Amino acid sequence: MSQGSDLRDTVALDLPEGAYGSESFFVREREAVFRGNWTLAGFGHQIPEPGDASPVTVAGLPLLLVRDLPGDVRVFHNVCLHRGCPLIREPVHRQKRLTCFYHGWAYDLEGRLRARPYFLEGGRHDIVDSKAGLGLEPVRSAQWSDLIFVNLDGKAAPFEEYARPMLSRVADYDLSSLRHGDRVLDFDVAGNWKLVAENWLDALHIFAIHPELNDFADQSGRERTEVDGCMFPGVYEFAEPRAGMVLDPSRRHVMSSEGANKVWSFFMFPSVFIQVRPDHLVVFDLVPVAPDRTRERIHFYFMGEAADDTEHAEARRVIYEAWDAINAQDVGPIEGMQQGRQSTAFRGLLASPYWDEALSHFTHLVNACMAKSGLAHG
Ligand code: FES
Ligand SMILES: [Fe+2]
Repeated sequence: MSQGSDLRDTVALDLPEGAYGSESFFVREREAVFRGNWTLAGFGHQIPEPGDASPVTVAGLPLLLVRDLPGDVRVFHNVCLHRGCPLIREPVHRQKRLTCFYHGWAYDLEGRLRARPYFLEGGRHDIVDSKAGLGLEPVRSAQWSDLIFVNLDGKAAPFEEYARPMLSRVADYDLSSLRHGDRVLDFDVAGNWKLVAENWLDALHIFAIHPELNDFADQSGRERTEVDGCMFPGVYEFAEPRAGMVLDPSRRHVMSSEGANKVWSFFMFPSVFIQVRPDHLVVFDLVPVAPDRTRERIHFYFMGEAADDTEHAEARRVIYEAWDAINAQDVGPIEGMQQGRQSTAFRGLLASPYWDEALSHFTHLVNACMAKSGLAHG
């Protein structure tokens, strides 16, 4: 490899000025990117029983996750028809009606308005016919495993199409027994959300800052992240399972015999990064909080009782601690880039022609979303 070829091979990557730090870009991007695509809204385990509802905020909008009586997940805008208050502020359980805390307007679990206490005057209630057509505004939603996704503008491609590059690659995995683990890791990162996402896509930094991961599967045997629509698949193989990297190194239970020595990863543009390990799932989600601030959480799913039993408690602890350390290794460079890119000395990326194809595609997707929405310039 000649040194002279490095700059000529540089992949052109260009996001508009202010993309990583300006408030106006952040606001436009929230609409174009996060409301215009499939975004993680929450989890099925937040609403385990029929009649459970949980408020969440997605792309700055208040939403309500609801499990209806047949057990299906529904998502609504958490905005009361009356005066526009979010009707539910805390999770509720096993309710037949969702009742707004302000004036008590009651909605059924399908979002239909059913009652307005005292509305017609003191002592005269308004019972609303379920066919009246008044109700909470539904949000397009889809579920994969425990994850609930929404597409707020309703215009994205069908979820199955969006997720197909992942679904097809893990088709032989039995994910049916997965249950949410007993710990969530929570990071407050002083960096723009795109730097967090780009770091997920960057398979080149493993050898430099993640000694444990590199020891598990060496950089020289790794491949770049692929691109497939809004999905960024990656995969590597490891020689020997070990604590922290798998739950059960003895491999008594795996989700796929084919995948017993593989780690799949999928960045689901724009907000979720999933690792499918032989016997568990790691789900990273990001929430843009400000142009220079991102909340990042890491969730774990294990097979059946291994999610919270005492037998696997120590093995889970080792996994949680491993990811706490690995993600902390990533936060330093992300926060460093947030600062370094404000410098006049930064003149754009010098990207690897091999490793950074994913980064280039990510940039393209952000630009395309902004252009499509007409929000590219503000
Ligand atoms: S705002 Fe909900 S009942 Fe008045
Ligand atoms: Fe990393």
